[in-house]
Amino acid sequence: DDETIVVIPGDGIGQEVVPAAVEVLESLDAGFDLVTYEAGDHVAAERGTPLPAETRAAVETADATLFGAAGESAADVILPLRRAVDSFVNVRPARAYPGVDALRPETDLVFLRENTEGVYAGLGRRLTDDVATGTRLTTRSASERLAEFACRYLADAAADSFTVVHKANVMGETDGLFRESVFDVAADHGVEPDEALMDAFATRVCLDPTQFDIVVCPNLAGDVLSDLAAGLVGGLGLLPSANLGPERGLFEPVHGTAPDIAGQGLSNPSATILSAAMLLEFLGYDEDARAVRRAVESVLESGPRTPDLGSDATTSDVTATIIERMSTD
Ligand code: NAI
Ligand code: MG
Repeated sequence: DDETIVVIPGDGIGQEVVPAAVEVLESLDAGFDLVTYEAGDHVAAERGTPLPAETRAAVETADATLFGAAGESAADVILPLRRAVDSFVNVRPARAYPGVDALRPETDLVFLRENTEGVYAGLGRRLTDDVATGTRLTTRSASERLAEFACRYLADAAADSFTVVHKANVMGETDGLFRESVFDVAADHGVEPDEALMDAFATRVCLDPTQFDIVVCPNLAGDVLSDLAAGLVGGLGLLPSANLGPERGLFEPVHGTAPDIAGQGLSNPSATILSAAMLLEFLGYDEDARAVRRAVESVLESGPRTPDLGSDATTSDVTATIIERMSTD
C-alpha cells in the first residue's frame, strides 16, 4: 500500500482542524503518504490565483484529498477541486451524538447531494446594472448517476428506501427531470422512494427528523438542508462530508473558515477528523475508520469539548484525547 493523500488546509480554521486530522491519520499505522498543498485566500495575492496549478494537478492524481476550507475564494477553490475528482455526489451525514446538546438528539440523516449542476453550474450573468440571471442546469445523466449511487448506498446502509427532496411543482422542467430520472433508476433497482417538497421537508425535518433517513437532493437544496441539519445536531463543527467521483474522493468538513473564531486554537476538529474517517473508509481502511469514529464519539460523550459545544477545551486538547482513545480502545 502506498496511496497518496493530498492535504489542503486552506484558510482560517482550516489551518487548525486539518493539522488536527493529519495528526490522527499519522497516529495510525497505515501505508499511505500525506502530501500538503496550498489553496485559498492566503495564496491568492502572492500567486494570482487561490488554486495554484500544482495543487489542482495533485488532487487530480491523488487517491484521496483532505480539504479544510477556503474563505472568500471558496467557490474558486472548492468547485474546481470537486471537478478535479469528477465528483458527482456529496455525501453528508448529519447525526446527533450522545453527550452533545442537540436540538433534535434523535437526528440520524445522510444527505446525498448532486454535486455538479443546478444553480451551482456557474451559468450566471449580470445583464444590466439592474438585471442579473442564472441558469439552473439539470441533466438526466447527472441525476441518474446520483440515483445509481443512492441505490447502491442503500445496501451499505442496510436501508430499503430513500426520500427524494425537490421542488418539481414549481421548477417543473429542472426538478421535474431530476425527480423523473431518480424515480426511473429506483424502479430499475426495485426501490420505491418517498418524496418531499423541499420547503415542506425543511419544516418536517425540524419537527421530527426520524421521518427521514437517506435524503437524495439537487445541489442547492442539499447545501442548505444539510446546514439546517447541522443546527439540529449541535452545530457545524460536527458535520463531515465526502465528495465522491468514480475513482477519487475529496473529503472536507461542511463548515467554512469560521473567521469569528479563527486563530485562537478553539475550533472543533470533529467534523474534519470524521471526514478523515470517511476518507479512510473510501481507501479501504475500514478498521482504522471505525477506530477514529469510535474515538471521536467517545470524546464527544465524555469531553473535553470545544466552546461551540459549550465547554472550553482547545483544538489540541480534543485532538490529543481522540488519539489517546484510539490507542487504548
Ligand atoms: P462557517 O461555517 O465558516 O461559520 C459559521 C459559524 O459556525 C461560525 O459562527 C463559526 O464560528 C461556526 N463554526 C464553523 N465551523 C466550526 C468549527 N469547526 N468549530 C467551531 N465553530 C465552528 O460559515 P460562514 O461564516 O458563513 O463563512 C465563513 C467563510 O467560510 C466565508 O468566507 C465562506 O466563503 C467560507 N466557506 C467556505 C466553505 C468551503 O471552503 N467549503 C464552506 C462554507 C463557507
Ligand atoms: Mg455550505
